[in-house]
Amino acid sequence: MEGSVLKTCREEWDELDKEFVQLEEDHRLYQKKLEQMITAQKKCMESIAHHRYRIKKINESLKKESRHQQSAEDKSQIKDLQQKIKERKEAFHEMEEILPHKNGPYLKIILGEVNVSLLNKADKFQYKQEYERFKLVVTYVVMILSLLVLSVSYHRWLDATLHFLLVWYYCTLTIRENILRVNGSRVKGWWVTHHFISTVCAGIILIWPEGYTYQEFRTQLIFFSLYISMVQVMQYYYQSGSLYRLRALGMRHTMDITVEGFMSWMWKGLSFLLPFLFLGYVYQLYNAYTLYHLSQHPGCKEWQVLALAGIFFILGMGNILTVGAVIRQKMKKEGISLQSLYNKYRFLADKNN
Ligand code: COA
Repeated sequence: MEGSVLKTCREEWDELDKEFVQLEEDHRLYQKKLEQMITAQKKCMESIAHHRYRIKKINESLKKESRHQQSAEDKSQIKDLQQKIKERKEAFHEMEEILPHKNGPYLKIILGEVNVSLLNKADKFQYKQEYERFKLVVTYVVMILSLLVLSVSYHRWLDATLHFLLVWYYCTLTIRENILRVNGSRVKGWWVTHHFISTVCAGIILIWPEGYTYQEFRTQLIFFSLYISMVQVMQYYYQSGSLYRLRALGMRHTMDITVEGFMSWMWKGLSFLLPFLFLGYVYQLYNAYTLYHLSQHPGCKEWQVLALAGIFFILGMGNILTVGAVIRQKMKKEGISLQSLYNKYRFLADKNN
Protein backbone atom coordinates (compact mmCIF):
# COMPACT_ATOMS: atom_id res chain seq x y z
CA MET A 1 0.00 0.00 0.00
CA GLU A 2 2.79 2.39 1.06
CA GLY A 3 4.71 1.49 -2.07
CA SER A 4 1.76 2.53 -4.29
CA VAL A 5 1.48 5.98 -2.53
CA LEU A 6 5.18 6.53 -3.14
CA LYS A 7 4.75 5.51 -6.78
CA THR A 8 1.88 8.02 -7.25
CA CYS A 9 3.97 10.78 -5.63
CA ARG A 10 6.90 9.96 -7.91
CA GLU A 11 4.65 10.08 -11.01
CA GLU A 12 3.10 13.36 -9.93
CA TRP A 13 6.53 14.84 -9.24
CA ASP A 14 7.78 13.79 -12.72
CA GLU A 15 4.70 15.36 -14.29
CA LEU A 16 5.26 18.58 -12.31
CA ASP A 17 8.91 18.53 -13.29
CA LYS A 18 7.93 18.71 -16.96
CA GLU A 19 5.60 21.65 -16.21
CA PHE A 20 8.42 23.34 -14.28
CA VAL A 21 10.57 23.38 -17.42
CA GLN A 22 7.78 25.35 -19.12
CA LEU A 23 7.48 27.67 -16.09
CA GLU A 24 11.23 28.37 -16.25
CA GLU A 25 10.91 29.16 -19.95
CA ASP A 26 7.94 31.53 -19.30
CA HIS A 27 9.84 33.27 -16.51
CA ARG A 28 12.91 33.73 -18.74
CA LEU A 29 10.66 35.28 -21.38
CA TYR A 30 9.06 37.56 -18.76
CA GLN A 31 12.49 38.68 -17.54
CA LYS A 32 13.61 39.43 -21.10
CA LYS A 33 10.43 41.44 -21.79
CA LEU A 34 10.87 43.31 -18.50
CA GLU A 35 14.41 44.28 -19.47
CA GLN A 36 13.16 45.30 -22.92
CA MET A 37 10.41 47.37 -21.30
CA ILE A 38 12.88 49.16 -19.00
CA THR A 39 15.15 49.91 -21.97
CA ALA A 40 12.17 51.19 -24.00
CA GLN A 41 10.99 53.35 -21.07
CA LYS A 42 14.46 54.90 -20.73
CA LYS A 43 14.65 55.50 -24.47
CA CYS A 44 11.23 57.20 -24.58
CA MET A 45 12.03 59.37 -21.54
CA GLU A 46 15.36 60.48 -23.02
CA SER A 47 13.71 61.11 -26.35
CA ILE A 48 10.96 63.25 -24.79
CA ALA A 49 13.61 65.27 -22.88
CA HIS A 50 15.51 65.77 -26.15
CA HIS A 51 12.34 66.87 -28.02
CA ARG A 52 11.44 69.25 -25.19
CA TYR A 53 14.90 70.84 -25.34
CA ARG A 54 14.76 71.32 -29.14
CA ILE A 55 11.20 72.68 -28.96
CA LYS A 56 12.28 75.14 -26.26
CA LYS A 57 15.02 76.46 -28.56
CA ILE A 58 12.58 76.73 -31.52
CA ASN A 59 10.09 78.54 -29.28
CA GLU A 60 12.73 81.03 -28.14
CA SER A 61 13.72 81.77 -31.74
CA LEU A 62 10.05 82.21 -32.71
CA LYS A 63 9.50 84.64 -29.82
CA LYS A 64 12.56 86.69 -30.88
CA GLU A 65 11.38 86.66 -34.50
CA SER A 66 7.85 87.76 -33.63
CA ARG A 67 9.26 90.93 -31.99
CA HIS A 68 10.47 92.13 -35.42
CA GLN A 69 8.33 93.51 -38.22
CA GLN A 70 6.96 90.71 -40.44
CA SER A 71 4.74 90.09 -43.41
CA ALA A 72 1.26 88.58 -42.96
CA GLU A 73 2.61 85.31 -44.42
CA ASP A 74 5.40 85.12 -41.77
CA LYS A 75 2.96 85.94 -38.99
CA SER A 76 0.67 83.12 -40.04
CA GLN A 77 3.64 80.71 -40.23
CA ILE A 78 4.73 81.66 -36.69
CA LYS A 79 1.19 81.14 -35.41
CA ASP A 80 0.98 77.79 -37.17
CA LEU A 81 4.28 76.62 -35.64
CA GLN A 82 3.27 77.80 -32.17
CA GLN A 83 0.00 75.85 -32.44
CA LYS A 84 1.94 72.74 -33.52
CA ILE A 85 4.29 73.16 -30.52
CA LYS A 86 1.29 73.37 -28.18
CA GLU A 87 -0.20 70.18 -29.64
CA ARG A 88 3.17 68.40 -29.41
CA LYS A 89 3.47 69.33 -25.72
CA GLU A 90 0.04 67.82 -25.09
CA ALA A 91 1.16 64.66 -26.89
CA PHE A 92 4.22 64.45 -24.56
CA HIS A 93 1.92 64.80 -21.60
CA GLU A 94 -0.19 61.86 -22.80
CA MET A 95 2.91 59.74 -23.48
CA GLU A 96 4.21 60.46 -19.97
CA GLU A 97 1.00 59.09 -18.44
CA ILE A 98 2.35 55.56 -18.92
CA LEU A 99 6.01 56.31 -18.21
CA PRO A 100 7.68 56.29 -14.77
CA HIS A 101 7.84 59.66 -12.99
CA LYS A 102 10.42 61.03 -10.60
CA ASN A 103 9.28 61.52 -6.97
CA GLY A 104 8.97 65.09 -5.71
CA PRO A 105 11.13 66.30 -2.77
CA TYR A 106 8.50 65.35 -0.14
CA LEU A 107 8.19 61.75 -1.36
CA LYS A 108 11.98 61.53 -1.72
CA ILE A 109 12.38 62.47 1.96
CA ILE A 110 9.68 60.08 3.18
CA LEU A 111 9.98 57.12 0.80
CA GLY A 112 13.36 57.62 -0.85
CA GLU A 113 13.81 56.91 -4.57
CA VAL A 114 11.27 54.07 -4.66
CA ASN A 115 9.20 54.04 -7.85
CA VAL A 116 5.56 54.92 -7.11
CA SER A 117 4.45 55.34 -10.74
CA LEU A 118 1.38 53.38 -11.76
CA LEU A 119 1.70 52.51 -15.42
CA ASN A 120 -1.87 51.76 -16.47
CA LYS A 121 -5.23 53.45 -16.11
CA ALA A 122 -6.85 50.54 -14.22
CA ASP A 123 -4.18 50.68 -11.48
CA LYS A 124 -4.50 54.49 -11.26
CA PHE A 125 -8.27 54.22 -10.94
CA GLN A 126 -7.96 51.54 -8.27
CA TYR A 127 -5.44 53.59 -6.28
CA LYS A 128 -7.63 56.69 -6.40
CA GLN A 129 -10.71 54.65 -5.42
CA GLU A 130 -8.79 53.15 -2.51
CA TYR A 131 -7.66 56.66 -1.42
CA GLU A 132 -11.29 57.85 -1.35
CA ARG A 133 -12.37 54.75 0.59
CA PHE A 134 -9.54 55.22 3.10
CA LYS A 135 -10.73 58.81 3.71
CA LEU A 136 -14.29 57.59 4.22
CA VAL A 137 -13.38 54.86 6.72
CA VAL A 138 -11.15 57.16 8.83
CA THR A 139 -13.83 59.88 8.67
CA TYR A 140 -16.41 57.47 10.16
CA VAL A 141 -13.96 56.57 12.93
CA VAL A 142 -13.36 60.29 13.64
CA MET A 143 -17.13 60.85 13.70
CA ILE A 144 -17.72 58.02 16.19
CA LEU A 145 -14.84 59.17 18.39
CA SER A 146 -16.12 62.78 18.35
CA LEU A 147 -19.58 61.58 19.39
CA LEU A 148 -18.02 59.49 22.15
CA VAL A 149 -15.91 62.41 23.41
CA LEU A 150 -19.04 64.60 23.48
CA SER A 151 -21.25 62.07 25.22
CA VAL A 152 -19.03 60.64 27.99
CA SER A 153 -17.54 62.61 30.86
CA TYR A 154 -14.28 64.44 30.16
CA HIS A 155 -11.08 62.37 29.89
CA ARG A 156 -7.99 64.03 28.45
CA TRP A 157 -6.70 60.71 27.05
CA LEU A 158 -9.90 60.33 24.98
CA ASP A 159 -9.47 63.83 23.52
CA ALA A 160 -5.80 63.03 22.86
CA THR A 161 -6.77 59.81 21.03
CA LEU A 162 -9.01 61.81 18.69
CA HIS A 163 -6.33 64.43 18.02
CA PHE A 164 -3.61 61.84 17.55
CA LEU A 165 -5.82 60.04 15.03
CA LEU A 166 -6.19 63.34 13.15
CA VAL A 167 -2.40 63.94 13.12
CA TRP A 168 -1.85 60.44 11.67
CA TYR A 169 -4.75 60.79 9.19
CA TYR A 170 -3.68 64.13 7.71
CA CYS A 171 -0.05 63.07 7.57
CA THR A 172 -1.02 59.90 5.67
CA LEU A 173 -3.18 61.95 3.29
CA THR A 174 -0.23 64.17 2.32
CA ILE A 175 1.78 61.07 1.33
CA ARG A 176 -1.11 59.51 -0.61
CA GLU A 177 -1.89 62.79 -2.37
CA ASN A 178 1.73 63.25 -3.40
CA ILE A 179 1.65 59.73 -4.91
CA LEU A 180 -1.60 60.66 -6.71
CA ARG A 181 0.05 63.80 -8.12
CA VAL A 182 3.07 61.82 -9.35
CA ASN A 183 0.53 59.70 -11.22
CA GLY A 184 -1.10 62.61 -12.99
CA SER A 185 -3.89 63.63 -10.59
CA ARG A 186 -4.88 67.29 -10.97
CA VAL A 187 -5.46 67.73 -7.22
CA LYS A 188 -4.75 71.38 -6.44
CA GLY A 189 -1.62 72.24 -4.46
CA TRP A 190 -3.79 73.98 -1.87
CA TRP A 191 -5.54 70.75 -0.81
CA VAL A 192 -2.18 69.07 -0.20
CA THR A 193 -0.94 72.17 1.67
CA HIS A 194 -4.27 72.21 3.55
CA HIS A 195 -3.56 68.68 4.80
CA PHE A 196 0.01 69.65 5.81
CA ILE A 197 -1.35 72.59 7.81
CA SER A 198 -4.10 70.39 9.30
CA THR A 199 -1.42 67.94 10.51
CA VAL A 200 0.35 70.83 12.29
CA CYS A 201 -3.01 72.08 13.63
CA ALA A 202 -3.95 68.68 15.12
CA GLY A 203 -0.40 68.34 16.52
CA ILE A 204 -0.64 71.69 18.32
CA ILE A 205 -4.06 70.76 19.76
CA LEU A 206 -2.53 67.48 20.98
CA ILE A 207 0.13 69.31 23.01
CA TRP A 208 -2.19 72.12 24.20
CA PRO A 209 -1.87 71.97 28.00
CA GLU A 210 -4.91 71.34 30.14
CA GLY A 211 -6.36 74.57 31.56
CA TYR A 212 -8.91 77.36 31.21
CA THR A 213 -8.43 78.04 27.48
CA TYR A 214 -8.50 74.37 26.48
CA GLN A 215 -11.71 73.77 28.44
CA GLU A 216 -13.31 76.94 26.98
CA PHE A 217 -12.64 75.89 23.37
CA ARG A 218 -12.94 72.10 23.67
CA THR A 219 -16.68 71.66 22.97
CA GLN A 220 -16.61 74.03 19.97
CA LEU A 221 -13.63 72.11 18.59
CA ILE A 222 -15.27 68.68 18.92
CA PHE A 223 -18.48 69.96 17.28
CA PHE A 224 -16.30 71.35 14.47
CA SER A 225 -14.60 67.98 14.05
CA LEU A 226 -18.04 66.30 13.90
CA TYR A 227 -19.33 68.80 11.33
CA ILE A 228 -16.24 68.43 9.10
CA SER A 229 -16.59 64.63 9.25
CA MET A 230 -20.19 64.92 8.02
CA VAL A 231 -19.12 67.21 5.17
CA GLN A 232 -16.33 64.79 4.28
CA VAL A 233 -18.84 61.94 3.95
CA MET A 234 -20.83 64.10 1.48
CA GLN A 235 -17.59 64.93 -0.32
CA TYR A 236 -16.85 61.20 -0.63
CA TYR A 237 -20.12 60.60 -2.51
CA TYR A 238 -19.38 63.54 -4.84
CA GLN A 239 -15.74 62.52 -5.48
CA SER A 240 -16.41 58.81 -5.97
CA GLY A 241 -19.42 59.58 -8.23
CA SER A 242 -17.20 61.90 -10.25
CA LEU A 243 -14.44 59.27 -10.42
CA TYR A 244 -16.81 56.57 -11.78
CA ARG A 245 -18.38 58.91 -14.30
CA LEU A 246 -15.03 60.21 -15.57
CA ARG A 247 -13.83 56.63 -15.97
CA ALA A 248 -17.01 55.78 -17.85
CA LEU A 249 -16.42 58.80 -20.10
CA GLY A 250 -12.98 57.39 -20.90
CA MET A 251 -14.66 54.24 -22.29
CA ARG A 252 -17.77 55.77 -23.76
CA HIS A 253 -18.27 53.05 -26.33
CA THR A 254 -19.27 50.65 -23.54
CA MET A 255 -21.06 52.99 -21.14
CA ASP A 256 -24.02 55.22 -21.73
CA ILE A 257 -22.67 58.53 -20.46
CA THR A 258 -21.98 61.81 -22.22
CA VAL A 259 -19.88 64.87 -21.41
CA GLU A 260 -23.10 66.93 -21.06
CA GLY A 261 -24.51 64.26 -18.74
CA PHE A 262 -21.39 64.43 -16.59
CA MET A 263 -21.45 68.24 -16.45
CA SER A 264 -25.09 68.33 -15.41
CA TRP A 265 -24.43 65.68 -12.71
CA MET A 266 -21.34 67.63 -11.53
CA TRP A 267 -23.22 70.93 -11.16
CA LYS A 268 -26.05 69.20 -9.30
CA GLY A 269 -23.53 67.59 -6.92
CA LEU A 270 -21.65 70.85 -6.44
CA SER A 271 -24.75 72.95 -5.76
CA PHE A 272 -25.68 70.47 -3.02
CA LEU A 273 -22.17 70.32 -1.52
CA LEU A 274 -21.07 73.96 -1.73
CA PRO A 275 -23.37 75.45 0.97
CA PHE A 276 -22.11 72.82 3.45
CA LEU A 277 -18.50 73.50 2.47
CA PHE A 278 -18.85 77.27 2.87
CA LEU A 279 -20.59 76.81 6.21
CA GLY A 280 -17.55 74.74 7.25
CA TYR A 281 -15.23 77.59 6.19
CA VAL A 282 -17.28 80.11 8.16
CA TYR A 283 -16.97 77.74 11.13
CA GLN A 284 -13.16 77.75 10.64
CA LEU A 285 -13.13 81.56 10.67
CA TYR A 286 -15.38 81.53 13.75
CA ASN A 287 -12.85 79.18 15.44
CA ALA A 288 -10.10 81.70 14.59
CA TYR A 289 -12.20 84.53 16.06
CA THR A 290 -12.98 82.61 19.30
CA LEU A 291 -9.34 81.59 19.74
CA TYR A 292 -8.11 85.12 19.12
CA HIS A 293 -10.46 86.39 21.85
CA LEU A 294 -9.30 83.63 24.20
CA SER A 295 -5.67 84.59 23.53
CA GLN A 296 -6.45 88.12 24.81
CA HIS A 297 -7.85 86.76 28.09
CA PRO A 298 -5.63 87.50 31.13
CA GLY A 299 -5.82 83.81 32.10
CA CYS A 300 -4.32 82.69 28.78
CA LYS A 301 -0.71 81.54 29.15
CA GLU A 302 -0.50 79.07 26.25
CA TRP A 303 1.10 80.02 22.89
CA GLN A 304 -1.05 77.33 21.26
CA VAL A 305 -4.16 79.56 21.44
CA LEU A 306 -2.84 82.37 19.21
CA ALA A 307 -1.03 79.91 16.91
CA LEU A 308 -4.29 77.96 16.38
CA ALA A 309 -6.20 81.20 15.75
CA GLY A 310 -3.74 82.00 12.93
CA ILE A 311 -3.94 78.47 11.51
CA PHE A 312 -7.78 78.38 11.45
CA PHE A 313 -7.80 81.79 9.79
CA ILE A 314 -5.35 80.64 7.07
CA LEU A 315 -7.34 77.42 6.53
CA GLY A 316 -10.70 79.21 6.29
CA MET A 317 -9.45 81.92 3.90
CA GLY A 318 -7.40 79.48 1.80
CA ASN A 319 -10.42 77.18 1.42
CA ILE A 320 -12.78 80.02 0.46
CA LEU A 321 -10.34 81.39 -2.14
CA THR A 322 -9.52 77.95 -3.60
CA VAL A 323 -13.12 76.75 -3.88
CA GLY A 324 -14.02 80.15 -5.39
CA ALA A 325 -11.24 79.72 -7.96
CA VAL A 326 -12.33 76.10 -8.72
CA ILE A 327 -15.92 77.22 -9.40
CA ARG A 328 -14.75 80.09 -11.62
CA GLN A 329 -12.46 77.73 -13.54
CA LYS A 330 -15.30 75.24 -14.06
CA MET A 331 -17.67 77.98 -15.24
CA LYS A 332 -15.06 79.33 -17.65
CA LYS A 333 -14.43 75.85 -19.05
CA GLU A 334 -18.11 75.42 -19.78
CA GLY A 335 -18.48 78.95 -21.14
CA ILE A 336 -20.76 80.00 -18.27
CA SER A 337 -20.07 83.60 -17.27
CA LEU A 338 -21.39 85.32 -14.17
CA GLN A 339 -23.04 87.81 -16.55
CA SER A 340 -24.91 85.00 -18.38
CA LEU A 341 -26.06 83.53 -15.07
CA TYR A 342 -27.23 86.97 -13.97
CA ASN A 343 -29.05 87.48 -17.29
CA LYS A 344 -30.70 84.05 -17.01
CA TYR A 345 -31.97 84.71 -13.49
CA ARG A 346 -33.05 88.26 -14.35
CA PHE A 347 -34.96 86.88 -17.35
CA LEU A 348 -36.68 84.28 -15.13
CA ALA A 349 -37.49 86.91 -12.51
CA ASP A 350 -38.94 89.25 -15.17
CA LYS A 351 -41.07 86.38 -16.53
CA ASN A 352 -42.47 85.61 -13.08
CA ASN A 353 -43.40 89.26 -12.40
N1 COA B 1 -8.76 66.67 -1.68
C1 COA B 1 -8.15 65.79 -2.52
N2 COA B 1 -8.34 65.76 -3.87
C2 COA B 1 -9.17 66.68 -4.37
C3 COA B 1 -9.84 67.63 -3.57
C4 COA B 1 -9.61 67.60 -2.16
N3 COA B 1 -10.19 68.45 -1.33
N4 COA B 1 -10.61 68.41 -4.36
C5 COA B 1 -10.43 67.96 -5.62
N5 COA B 1 -9.58 66.91 -5.64
C6 COA B 1 -9.09 66.16 -6.83
C7 COA B 1 -10.22 65.55 -7.65
O1 COA B 1 -10.55 64.26 -7.19
C8 COA B 1 -9.55 65.51 -9.02
O2 COA B 1 -8.65 64.41 -9.04
P1 COA B 1 -8.18 63.66 -10.41
O3 COA B 1 -7.42 64.64 -11.23
O4 COA B 1 -7.31 62.56 -9.88
O5 COA B 1 -9.43 63.16 -11.07
C9 COA B 1 -8.70 66.77 -9.04
O6 COA B 1 -8.48 67.11 -7.67
C10 COA B 1 -9.36 67.94 -9.75
O7 COA B 1 -10.60 68.22 -9.15
P2 COA B 1 -11.42 69.55 -9.51
O8 COA B 1 -12.05 69.38 -10.84
O9 COA B 1 -10.56 70.75 -9.27
O10 COA B 1 -12.53 69.58 -8.38
P3 COA B 1 -13.72 68.56 -8.08
O11 COA B 1 -14.89 68.84 -8.96
O12 COA B 1 -13.25 67.15 -8.03
O13 COA B 1 -14.07 69.00 -6.56
C11 COA B 1 -14.72 70.49 -4.78
C12 COA B 1 -14.38 70.35 -6.28
C13 COA B 1 -14.85 71.95 -4.45
C14 COA B 1 -16.01 69.74 -4.48
C15 COA B 1 -13.56 69.82 -3.98
O14 COA B 1 -12.35 70.45 -4.29
C16 COA B 1 -13.81 69.88 -2.48
O15 COA B 1 -14.57 69.10 -1.96
N6 COA B 1 -13.14 70.79 -1.80
C17 COA B 1 -13.32 71.01 -0.39
C18 COA B 1 -12.31 70.32 0.45
C19 COA B 1 -12.37 70.84 1.85
O16 COA B 1 -12.69 71.97 2.10
N7 COA B 1 -12.01 70.02 2.81
C20 COA B 1 -12.02 70.48 4.17
C21 COA B 1 -13.21 70.00 4.90
S1 COA B 1 -14.57 71.10 4.91
